[in-house]
Order: sequence, then C-alpha cells, then structure tokens
Amino acid sequence: MPEKNESLTQKARQLILSADHVPAPSPLLFRIIELMQDEKADVRDFKDLFTRDPGLSSCILRMANSAYYGYRGRVKDLERAIILIGFDEIKNICVTAVIIQQFAKKDMSSSFMHDLFWKHSLLVGILSKELAARCEGKQWCAGPYYTMGLLHDFGRLIIAAFLADYFDEILQRAEKEGIGLFEAERELGLTHTQVGYWLASKWGFPAGIRHVIACHHESDAAGKYSMETAVVRLANQLARYAQEPGNTPVPDPDRQDLKASCLELDDYKAQADRIFDILSGVDGFYDALQE
Ligand SMILES: [Fe+2]
Repeated sequence: MPEKNESLTQKARQLILSADHVPAPSPLLFRIIELMQDEKADVRDFKDLFTRDPGLSSCILRMANSAYYGYRGRVKDLERAIILIGFDEIKNICVTAVIIQQFAKKDMSSSFMHDLFWKHSLLVGILSKELAARCEGKQWCAGPYYTMGLLHDFGRLIIAAFLADYFDEILQRAEKEGIGLFEAERELGLTHTQVGYWLASKWGFPAGIRHVIACHHESDAAGKYSMETAVVRLANQLARYAQEPGNTPVPDPDRQDLKASCLELDDYKAQADRIFDILSGVDGFYDALQE
C-alpha cells in the first residue's frame, strides 16, 4: 500500500477510535444487540427494556398501529403489540429503530442519503433472515441474520458520520472514474469494511456481525463465519438487483457463496421471485418508523 494510504489509514483509525471524535453508542443499543445474539433471551428481557425506555415502547406501539402492520388504532398496550406482531419481528423493530435513532440527529456528509441507505440495509436484513431460513439442516436463529444484514454497511454509515470529507471524496472518485464505491475506496486506500470493523470491535459488537461487516466484499477472510458472510453477500446481491434500476435479469449467485451458505440454486431463485414484494414491504416498514 502506498505511503499516502498508510497515513490516511492510520489517521482515520485514530479518529474513529478516539472517544472525543466518535462517542460511545447508547447503552440501549448495546443491550439490544446483546439480546439479539442470545438465544435464551425471551419476551421478559425485552419488556424490561421497554419499561426502562419509554421512547422504544412508544415506537413499538406506533409501529403496531401503523398502516404497515394494519392494526390502526387498535393496539393500546405492548403486551398486545407483541402478540400481534410476533416476538421475532418486535426484536427486529427494536434493533432497527435504535440504530437509526442513534444516527438520526448526527451531522452527516450532505451527500449521504439516509432513506436510500436505510432502505437498502433493511432489505439486506430481511433477505438475510429469509435466505438463512432456507438453509436446511442448519441451526438458524432469525435475530443474528437480520442484524448482520442490517449492519453489513455499518462502515459506510460511520464514514459519512465521522469522516465526512472522505465520504465525499469516495463519491467523487467513483463518479469520475465510473467505478463502484468499494473500488473507489480501495483506490483511495481506506474501505468501509475496515472502518466498520474498527468501530464494531470498539463498540463490542458480537464476532459474527464484526466478520460480516469486515468480509462482505471479500469473503475469503470470513473463516468461521463464512456461512453468515455468504448469506449476507447473496442478500446484498439480490437487494442491489432490486434497488438499482435497470439491473436485469436476476444476477447469478456466486458459486462459492452458494456453497458456503448451504443454499441451493432453487432457494436463491425462489427468494429472487419474492424480491419486489419484500421491497415494497421495506418501504412501508421504513415509512412507519418515520411516522
Ligand atoms: Fe458494503
């Protein structure tokens, strides 16, 4: 790596890891991510969170009464919301709402498009969860896959929030050279996968999430988490196909990703068939969160 890039990497790393520049996340976010990984966590653990955080409980009630879930005005208490929406979905709402909220008030690069970023992240989260459910014979837990997909581009969010000039430089380089954002980052010497991994490690995200953040563009280093990384890579590929206009037909899956994910080609195709229904659901879900 050229000297210029080494100094960019070092400087960026120092900034990202400095508590003055990047404040710690809310304890609520820590707790939710912890619970999302804990297979023994039950409704009581989440109810405990809701009691301590009125903002989160009113968000759940608002979501339950939104057009997206279709119970308009009929859900008065959390107990009923959990029964109607389902515990897995409640967990997904919690982690999504809290992470979006964490960055909503932060000054970001003016080029950062919140709606586009979050709708893509949400779609990758849902697709990762659904693809993982198709991995027959494997132990599966909805929480981690949704969160891994949701946070796969965590580094891009962090660059836009805390290295805003560099975020703009990436966009300019990509546009000028007609290349993808990741390629532009590589040319400039600092990628969102590196940045995301640094902060995810500092914030104590679980190993699976950290590996997906670090390896979702280059899965060779995913090691023990190659299955999780492959699922999120396939989900990301399908999401990009659905969200980037003119991308037809459905892209073939990478053979290595299919193998590592334990998915069959038919599973991938079946998921692709549902993609536009899921995408319109994502729009509704995101709109409900903003209400
Ligand atoms: Fe990415």
